[in-house]
Amino acid sequence: MGGELGWGRHYAMVEPSQFRVEYEINPYMDTSVQPDPERAAAQWHQLANTLRGLGAPVDVITARADSPDMVYAMNLGLVVSRPDWTGPGRRSVVLSHMRYPQRRNETLTARQWFETRGYAPSYVGREGVGPHFEAGDAFPFRGDLVVGVGPRSDELALKHLAIDLGVRVRGLRITHPAMYHLDLAFCPLDDRRAIVCPDALDAASAETLLELVPEPLVIDADEAVTTFCANSVVLGRTVVMPACPDRVRARLEAWGFEVVVVDVSELHLGGGSVRCLTNPLDIALGRDLEQVVGGEVLLPVAADGSTTDAA
Ligand code: ARG
Repeated sequence: MGGELGWGRHYAMVEPSQFRVEYEINPYMDTSVQPDPERAAAQWHQLANTLRGLGAPVDVITARADSPDMVYAMNLGLVVSRPDWTGPGRRSVVLSHMRYPQRRNETLTARQWFETRGYAPSYVGREGVGPHFEAGDAFPFRGDLVVGVGPRSDELALKHLAIDLGVRVRGLRITHPAMYHLDLAFCPLDDRRAIVCPDALDAASAETLLELVPEPLVIDADEAVTTFCANSVVLGRTVVMPACPDRVRARLEAWGFEVVVVDVSELHLGGGSVRCLTNPLDIALGRDLEQVVGGEVLLPVAADGSTTDAA
């Protein structure tokens, strides 16, 4: 049995009062199909209470009225702590630089929220200038930071992340329009296993992903986009999922995981699910991410053979 993930036992979530579909920036969003606010709120509370019931504190951020997608808390930023440090910078957050201007105000509130709580903020780009980075693309896995690039995060963001955090960053190129964040296609389960959807990536990155995960649970694009089952969170041996196809459940249970399904279908109308709604606050450098002096970026060669200055 693989060693449990060190992170995933403390979350931030953004309360759902402002959630609605006001624009269309991913294939799931349709402004003519609006969520039922009461059902969305009940589902959101059910998710928060499930996490709390599993022992994970959930800190709640108030949503901005002008930011209907802010409920997808994962995209506010990547929180990383440096447990060995004392003083400033011990807790830090790399704030997202959203691809679409409709979401950029969220960062203003995120900055305030994190700063008030003693997190040192940094940016890879901001207010439309510099590379985009959306934290839903980033995961610690086996000591490295794995980051999806393409639809939302830019290749150049990888270099900023590597240098800023002092870690090895492994970029993966996303090509599937409905898996526009890596968290729709990748879910680390423990230090050897992950749910993976190689169909989300170009050929070289799909190969890299399968090499990266010693025991992958492979799902196809259809399973990923119709069930959002990769968009799950893991608390030790428990996987909190929006849905779980039988085949996926059988594998998870055979590996010793317990599956808890929470229906967040109203929140799917904005194109996000369980993982998008939650942001782990307990990723630690030195434990979940190996320190690499000066940072390092690894990125598979693009399909057209071009190399880029990110690597
Ligand atoms: N409507 C949001 C967007 O398109 C959904 C974000 C989903 N979040 C995630 N971590 N995948 O940006």
